[in-house]
Amino acid sequence: MLLEGRKAIVTGASSGIGKATAERLGREGANVCVNYYSDKEQADAHEVVTSIERAGPGRAIAVQADVGSETDVERMVAETVTAFGGVDIMVNNAGIEKQIPLLDTSQEDWERILRTNLTGTFLCLREAGKVMAGGGGGVIVNMSSVHEFIPWPGFAPYCASKGGVKLLMETAARELAPKGIRVVNIAPGAIVTPINKFVLDDPEAKHAVEEEIPIGRMGEPGEIAAAVAWAASGEASYVTGTTIVVDGGMSLYPKFV
Ligand code: NAI
Ligand code: BGC
Repeated sequence: MLLEGRKAIVTGASSGIGKATAERLGREGANVCVNYYSDKEQADAHEVVTSIERAGPGRAIAVQADVGSETDVERMVAETVTAFGGVDIMVNNAGIEKQIPLLDTSQEDWERILRTNLTGTFLCLREAGKVMAGGGGGVIVNMSSVHEFIPWPGFAPYCASKGGVKLLMETAARELAPKGIRVVNIAPGAIVTPINKFVLDDPEAKHAVEEEIPIGRMGEPGEIAAAVAWAASGEASYVTGTTIVVDGGMSLYPKFV
C-alpha cells in the first residue's frame, strides 16, 4: 500500500476523477474526506464513502463544501482534522468548464469558473497547507489539465484558470518546500467523466477527440487516480513544482504530424 495511515481530502469527489481518486486513495490505506458541492451531490458522495469503507482499509467521511467559499473550506479542513487527526494529502480536483465564444463570455461566467477552479484551489491549498506546515508536512495535488499549456478556443476562462493553477503550483512548491510540503499538478487529457458529456453524447465529436490522442481512446478516471496516488506517496518524495501529464499522448498535437 502506498498511503497507509495518511489523511486526505479530495474535492469534488462525488463523481468522475475525484470519485476514482478518493476510492483509490482509500484502497492505498489513506483515510479520505470525500468533499461534495451541494445537496444534489450528497447521495453520490455517501455512496463513495460506503465504497471506500467496504473496500478498506482507509476510512471515509463526506463533507459538503463549496471550494470557492472561504468559510466552507475552513470548515471542511477543520472537520477532517477532527475526524482523522490531521491532513497530509490535499487533492484539489473540483472544477467546472463551459463552452462559450470568448467575445460572448459574461463577467459572471468568467468569475464563476475562476472562482471554482483557481480560487478554490488557492483556498484549499492555503487551509490544508497551514495544517501540513504545523504537522509533519504533506502533499498538495492539483487537478489541472493539458489546458494549463494547450490553448482551447471556446474555453478561455477554463484555460485561464488552469494556467493560473500552473503558476500557483510552481510558486507554492518553492515557498512551501522548506515546510516539508510538496506541490504537484496532474494534467489529464480527455477522460471519460460527466464534464465531457457534451463529447461522449456526440459520436462525431468523440471520434474527433480520439483522433487527437495517439493512444486512440479517451482515458479512464482510474488512470488519473493512479497518478494521484503515486504523486501523493513517498515514491514521489523528490517530485515537486512540476506537472505530470496523463493524456495518452494528446499533448503531442498528432494533427501536426
Ligand atoms: P466532473 O464534473 O465529474 O467532476 C467535477 C466535480 O467538481 C463534480 O463532482 C462537481 O460537483 C465538483 N464541483 C464543481 N463545483 C464545485 C465547487 N464549487 N465546490 C466543490 N465541488 C465542486 O468532471 P471530472 O472530469 O471528474 O473533473 C474533475 C477535474 O478534472 C476538474 O478540475 C477538471 O477540470 C479536471 N479535468 C478533467 C478532464 C476530463 O477530460 N474529464 C481533463 C482535464 C482536467
Ligand atoms: C477538459 C475536457 C477535455 C480535456 C481535453 C479537460 O481539461 O475538462 O473537457 O476533454 O481537457 O481537451
